[in-house]
Amino acid sequence: VLDIRKLYGQTGAFTYDPGFTSTAACESGLTFIDGDEGILLHRGYPIDQLAEKSNFIEVCHLLLHGELPTAAQYEKFERNITMHTMLHAQFDRFFEGFRRDAHPMAIMVGTVGALSAFYHDSLDINDPTQRYISAIRLIAKMPTIAARAFKYHIGQPFVSPRNDLNYAENFLRMCFAVPAEDYEVNPVLARAMDRIFILHADHEQNASTSTVRLAGSSGANPFACIAAGIACLWGPSHGGANEEALNMLKEIGTPENIPDFINGVKNRERRLMGFGHRVYKNYDPRAKVMQQSAKEVLAEVGDPNDPLLQVAQELERIALHDEYFIERKLYPNVDFYSGITLSAMGFPTTMFTVLFALARTVGWISQWQEMMEDPSQKIGRPRQLYTGPTRRDYVPISQRG
Ligand code: ACO
Repeated sequence: VLDIRKLYGQTGAFTYDPGFTSTAACESGLTFIDGDEGILLHRGYPIDQLAEKSNFIEVCHLLLHGELPTAAQYEKFERNITMHTMLHAQFDRFFEGFRRDAHPMAIMVGTVGALSAFYHDSLDINDPTQRYISAIRLIAKMPTIAARAFKYHIGQPFVSPRNDLNYAENFLRMCFAVPAEDYEVNPVLARAMDRIFILHADHEQNASTSTVRLAGSSGANPFACIAAGIACLWGPSHGGANEEALNMLKEIGTPENIPDFINGVKNRERRLMGFGHRVYKNYDPRAKVMQQSAKEVLAEVGDPNDPLLQVAQELERIALHDEYFIERKLYPNVDFYSGITLSAMGFPTTMFTVLFALARTVGWISQWQEMMEDPSQKIGRPRQLYTGPTRRDYVPISQRG
């Protein structure tokens, strides 16, 4: 705690906390993490139980409403979401404006922000009913937008949502069905997709969620706030890490190359992507579920002896016994195995962060709702430690040496 009253001529104390490693910016009842023990709870429920027994729609209800739904609540909630899956026809024009080789995350940032141009009623952020409708719209439309970004990127026609399918099935169909050809959703892949959505649904005040809250604290509309969250998520230290982790595994190629790679990490030439976490100083509980999902998906559609899975498991085994990683408490995070899983499911690496954004939308919007309902909510306004020159007088350009 720095007493810099003299410097700033103000009363009170400031904390200087780069990266906010020890500053709570809000109160929240959504998600609890004990990083030392490797525990993650949503509204009290352990993530592994939710991933095993629940489904993404239930988890959305849990995060947004605070409780798991009854059967009647579930049916109503799911119907509400399926009613909002379509996009305005004019929306297609947005996609056409992008270059075909645009990164799907670039398309996501632009198109999700553009939703505010279509739903003017959602801009009334002071009306709780409108806030709720915005949340439903976002959860419902994200798969449609994400699938369109994917189809546009690979040069195929868009596939419309089908409301008789569940959330994950509908998304996989919109991504992989080709018009005029039969497409049966593989139940193992649909379950894996649903689980990936659950694992990414919320993670308390991470960089993108903090971005959503900070944007929302100024009264910005929910679509603009979520677009800001997507922009932040794109970075390789955050949501972009799964893309980087898979590229790294491909680059290592075979287990024999691991020792050299580890030496490079220790010499600080690079980082072991998919390892380490700001909060978890133990095994990320999501990584355990993800590892299991990777095995199930590879057994179904890939090669159970996939060399990338072997490299990942061997890398993990070596790192967990190495002093460098032990000392720094570096363990696999959720991204370590998600890339292998998504790749086996047929997604290119450029889509990985898009899927993360799709799933995290419920967390972002639930956090935004919680903030909007909090009477103590203020505009977010961090301070700084000024390190520039002290006061000095202007010198005309002719007199500057
Ligand atoms: N590989 C090698 N060394 C690492 C790694 C890594 N992945 N992560 C941290 N370290 C080392 C640092 O070099 C540092 O060592 P030092 O004390 O000798 O200087 C020490 O561990 C602490 O690292 P910080 O960067 O201070 O830790 P921080 O909490 O700021 O970083 C982060 C967390 C960004 C996730 C980091 O671990 C990282 O870059 N990991 C790789 C990227 C990744 O997987 N990101 C996904 C995060 S999870 C998510 O967003 C879903």
